[in-house]
Amino acid sequence: MHPLPEPQAVTAPLSSAALILVGTVPQDEAAHATVREFCADLAGLVRAVGFREPSAALTCVLGFGAEVWPRLFAAPAPAGLHPFVPLHGVHDAPATPGDVLFHIRAERSDLCFALATQILAALGPALRPEWEVQGFRFFDNRDLLGFVDGTENPTGPAVPAAALVAEGGHAGGSYAIVQKYLHDLDAWNGLDTAAQERIIGRRKLDNTEIAEAELPSSAHRLLTTVTDDDGEELQIVRDNMPFGSPAAGEFGTLFLGYAADPAVTETMLRNMFLGDPPGDYDRILDFSRAVTGGLFFAPAASALEDLAESAPAPAPAAAPEAQAPSGLAIGSLRSPRAG
Ligand code: HEM
Repeated sequence: MHPLPEPQAVTAPLSSAALILVGTVPQDEAAHATVREFCADLAGLVRAVGFREPSAALTCVLGFGAEVWPRLFAAPAPAGLHPFVPLHGVHDAPATPGDVLFHIRAERSDLCFALATQILAALGPALRPEWEVQGFRFFDNRDLLGFVDGTENPTGPAVPAAALVAEGGHAGGSYAIVQKYLHDLDAWNGLDTAAQERIIGRRKLDNTEIAEAELPSSAHRLLTTVTDDDGEELQIVRDNMPFGSPAAGEFGTLFLGYAADPAVTETMLRNMFLGDPPGDYDRILDFSRAVTGGLFFAPAASALEDLAESAPAPAPAAAPEAQAPSGLAIGSLRSPRAG
């Protein structure tokens, strides 16, 4: 097997600070050209800001949504790139506008802030910011619900295996699903710790797993454990970040999942919002509302530079339809308890 092209900083470790920026690209040729050319400039910007404080390990991942891809690039879109599929259950997972994702990470928030400022200055009117989250590490990697978040993330060689497309023209790229969740902390904190632990599936204080036999089927850790037909667990790489504004009463978790195949993350989402078995949804959602949703593809680093030169023909034939979410016909992906 050929070595993978160098990915963007998808597999970088969890950081102390992160800034997530999602924007849309207006329908005009000048904007398209600006964004396209920026693909070759991003690495230099990251170096310019990051080299001022190398110990802060600044990184940035740039991803594109399905609708904008054929507007920007002649190169064919990745097979799994499609618009985020909204889910409607007792609670909804909305799809919200977003053509471009920037996932900026560093050990210091000032570097994230400076890079985002430079990116927006470079893109000017070619990028309309839709939403931004500035996340921070909270004590021992806890989310604002008070639980340690990220424990079961893959480690070592399992990270690229879970996050990066292994072969084909888009090898080394990654599919990112991003959602912003807002918590009702008063309601959550009204539960006793044992009730919270049964919702998450782990102990709050020491972070140990609660045995499956002691949990309801709606426990978060059970609904988000998915396997293939052979019973092999299918993993994603999560980069959740707490964020919020105490004065505004806003307390949230930014969910960002990188996957080699977006169908894996989508199965987890379906299990959470629709339930597995159906109806038995994830009770985190009684306390956490998803307010944004987007699916993006982050090409390999060298592919990103090549895309700067990949302008579509001036008068293109009808843009190819974004590929249907074939991955959703994932009879092969299921919760271990389903079969
Ligand atoms: C409000 C949003 C969310 C919060 C607060 C949250 C929190 C947590 C916590 C505390 C854990 C247990 C520790 C760990 O292994 O990380 C966990 C596990 C996990 N979560 Fe989430 N999560 C959220 C949303 C999501 C979403 C949207 C997905 C996927 C689409 C997801 C996928 C997972 C997975 C795969 C695990 C590991 C399960 C295991 O193997 O034990 N989470 N989450």
